[in-house]
Amino acid sequence: MEKISIGLVGAGWAGETHAKAYERVYGIEVDLKTLCALGPDLEPFARRHGFRKWTEEFEDLIKDPEIDVVDIASPPNLHKDMIIKALRAGKHVVCEKPLTGYFGLPGDPERAGDVSKEKMLSCIRADMDEIERALKESGRSFFYAENWLYAPAFVKASDLILKKGTTILEIRSFAGHKGSHAGYVGSWAKSGGGTMMRNLIHPVGAALYLKKIETENKGLSGGVASIYCDCARVTDGVDKRSIAASPVDVEDYSHLVLTFLDGTKAELTSTDLCLGGLRNNLEIYGNDAVYFCRFNPNNLMEGYLPDDRGLDGELLMEKCDHSLGYQSISLEDELIRGYYGEIQDFMECLRDKREPRSGFSLAREAMEITSLAYVSAEQGRCLKL
Ligand SMILES: NC(=O)c1ccc[n+]([C@@H]2O[C@H](COP(=O)([O-])OP(=O)(O)OC[C@H]3O[C@@H](n4cnc5c(N)ncnc54)[C@H](O)[C@@H]3O)[C@@H](O)[C@H]2O)c1
Repeated sequence: MEKISIGLVGAGWAGETHAKAYERVYGIEVDLKTLCALGPDLEPFARRHGFRKWTEEFEDLIKDPEIDVVDIASPPNLHKDMIIKALRAGKHVVCEKPLTGYFGLPGDPERAGDVSKEKMLSCIRADMDEIERALKESGRSFFYAENWLYAPAFVKASDLILKKGTTILEIRSFAGHKGSHAGYVGSWAKSGGGTMMRNLIHPVGAALYLKKIETENKGLSGGVASIYCDCARVTDGVDKRSIAASPVDVEDYSHLVLTFLDGTKAELTSTDLCLGGLRNNLEIYGNDAVYFCRFNPNNLMEGYLPDDRGLDGELLMEKCDHSLGYQSISLEDELIRGYYGEIQDFMECLRDKREPRSGFSLAREAMEITSLAYVSAEQGRCLKL
């Protein structure tokens, strides 16, 4: 492919990181052709990133024969239909996490979050089957935008694990902040879940990937043997002047223990209870090595600011309430968290006709494990797979 033409859906947080990442792709010509989003941000966002066209109609992207890739950075309840339509129109697809979800059906209780998690699981499986069929029939590529797999610290740890032939014994991760900026996330009908579906799905994907490469490297077959999960809404009735989370029928706390077939444990926690900026880390304990991957806070630089004059619109540290006093100032956050790496990999995959580090099977497995985790939490028991 001489030039890859992109139709991006979404001009929110994720759309911004994807657009910045396409602008930085090297060695391949990328054409930011059309932006699709709703509301007043559409045109300013499109102009800022050099899109040639902008539209509120998704159909305009898939009807355009020039567009090679439809990149879906819209809310999760739209993912499934957009993926299937794009594939059927012959487009390659990049899609944000989560792959899909359960967002309510006619006859459900008023709040989608009150639906039985077993029912959700079976609907999600059916939706994933439908996406997988559309993918197979299309002959196109699917790229799962799981940025943790492309964070330089994670890439380095993965490489070292392969080189040393490390046996992974335990993976620990925390992914948390004080709640999302995106208005839709408090409601299950739009988000498909709370902090687990929104944040914990990152370390779930990372742990699945690590165990996959480790076992493949040793010529063994791997997989998850059991899942134990606890979920809660801890902030109900609490003074929320500082916490941004406003969960309606979703959880703001989740703790998941995965046991893999060879006994490896992954203990993964995510909350919306964490003041003081974004915290994302992953620790890998092996038989011959330990790796601490710290994505946030990104602490290469520290600053002291007695006031915030002149800093309007300047994001010094994501999800931090203010820019005063001593603090870590994020540097190259998109690089450190893997957003640039994922888009570079996806573009190279199209040019070189190879599989991505993060593709459909990971998207599906992360979705399956996270959905099973909700069943475990609801039933208060360990699920043996
Ligand atoms: N990988 C990450 O670190 C990360 C971080 C944040 C969000 N996300 C994911 O990215 C996706 C978007 O989240 P966000 O935080 O950017 O949300 P957001 O609310 O900031 O932005 C959503 C965008 O989608 C657009 N949109 C909504 N309905 C649309 C429609 N019918 N047609 C076209 N555009 C439509 C909106 O106009 C908006 O521009 C979600 O799947 C979320 O899980 C990933």
